[in-house]
Amino acid sequence: MMDDWTTLGYLASAVLFILGLKRLSRPRTAVRGNQFGATGMLIAIVVTLTDNAILGFEWIIAGLVLGTAVGAVLAVRVQMTAMPELVALFNGFGGGASVLVAAASYIEAADLATDTPRLSAAAGLAALIGAVTFTGSLIAFGKLRESLKWSGFKGMQVVSVVGVAAAVVFGVLMVADAGNALWIWLMVAVAAGLGVLVVSPIGGADMPVVIALLNSLSGMAAVAAGFVLDNSLLIIAGSLVGASGLILTQIMCVAMNRSLLAVMFSPAPSGAGGPSADDVYAGKVRSTSADDVAMLLEAAERVAIVPGYGLAVAQAQHAVRDLARRLEDRGTQVVFGIHPVAGRMPGHMNVLLAEAEIGYEQLVEMDDINPTFEQTDVTIVLGANDVVNPIARTDPSSPIAGMPILDVDKSGVVVVIKRSLSPGFAGIPNPLFAADNSMMLFGDGREAVVSITKALQQI
Ligand code: TAP
Repeated sequence: MMDDWTTLGYLASAVLFILGLKRLSRPRTAVRGNQFGATGMLIAIVVTLTDNAILGFEWIIAGLVLGTAVGAVLAVRVQMTAMPELVALFNGFGGGASVLVAAASYIEAADLATDTPRLSAAAGLAALIGAVTFTGSLIAFGKLRESLKWSGFKGMQVVSVVGVAAAVVFGVLMVADAGNALWIWLMVAVAAGLGVLVVSPIGGADMPVVIALLNSLSGMAAVAAGFVLDNSLLIIAGSLVGASGLILTQIMCVAMNRSLLAVMFSPAPSGAGGPSADDVYAGKVRSTSADDVAMLLEAAERVAIVPGYGLAVAQAQHAVRDLARRLEDRGTQVVFGIHPVAGRMPGHMNVLLAEAEIGYEQLVEMDDINPTFEQTDVTIVLGANDVVNPIARTDPSSPIAGMPILDVDKSGVVVVIKRSLSPGFAGIPNPLFAADNSMMLFGDGREAVVSITKALQQI
């Protein structure tokens, strides 16, 4: 009887997860999708606790208290701009949890002599994928914080190949010599090293691909843990995360114009030999004022606003909405150009602009907005840098070589709002800032936009 209720509960959760995912694919239905997913998760937790509390509730409550305490502290303390790093860390925790489940089940089965080749193989996979995800995500966390610059050492690829071979050997030994806990710990150690070796050389503009891939791997580790625990819902939920992460990885690869194999095995050039900031900027950069920008906007018929990571840092989304509304009230057409890797996480700009209630119809994807820049009178680049850097088209040695960019340089006038001439995430100068039709409005993104709006009111 209990089994029937469990199956029914798991079925309801799985259906809610799938319906939730479907709704998450459109901004208008995303909130409802989130609610579906959360309800599915609540049902899954209640059903699992009532069906399978083999550990005793004291352990489960202890885990819940500890996890909630860590999660609550992180959620309260994290700055909005640090959200992408936190998401990377959560991917890692997912992988780490799968490792613990795999190790506990493998060792317990060995002690009770209940091990089977299927359980050992699943535990090996969960340990391998989970540990790679865990350490890989920690490295990604450091790179997103821009506190970790290490990109490995010479001969690292050879060491990685040896690591993969060792992981295969330990996997086979986990099945063939199942009573021996040593094999799973060796597997975890080698996989943890592989996570570091594979993710460390990847950096700069390739990071979005890695983030999406680690997200997918955390789902695959959960699938393997689901086989270890014989839990069908964990297998389904893990598959959904794994598959959607893979789709996102593919989207990010297209956005960067790089194949997954190229990202993993031939990291983008560092750009070290490229032009220096002095070569690009000296004597060529024109700065402007909020009043002058307001005059330009006053005369414009079509304005494009291109946000980037600086929008998130400045929290300028509400200010930019006010500016857009003021311009529209004057009869100016305003659109927002969205690059797929702008910011630090997929959909970063869409989320921020949606928070400020900027209409979805005003957010135009890169492929759709690019042909229209030539007919755009003024483009405001607000805290974006790499995603508008024309070097991507011209310099094959740059870290963003070949990445499709927003062609803002083709518009009549470009106003770039940022605090200084510092580079973006890829660490290279941007000739757009020195172009004949560009001018720089130096300052914090929010303050600059507020000043432009005020100046516009006075015209
Ligand atoms: P970036 O190239 O990183 O440039 C952001 C610019 O914002 C900086 O040059 C900075 O210049 C400016 N800025 C910072 N704080 C500001 C503030 N308060 N007010 C105004 N400007 C401010 O950003 P992007 O163009 O959005 O490109 C994204 C980059 O991140 C790409 O290289 C992408 O590959 C990478 N990346 C993306 C993701 C995802 S999934 N989206 C994940 C990891 C990495 P100042 O300091 O001079 O102000």
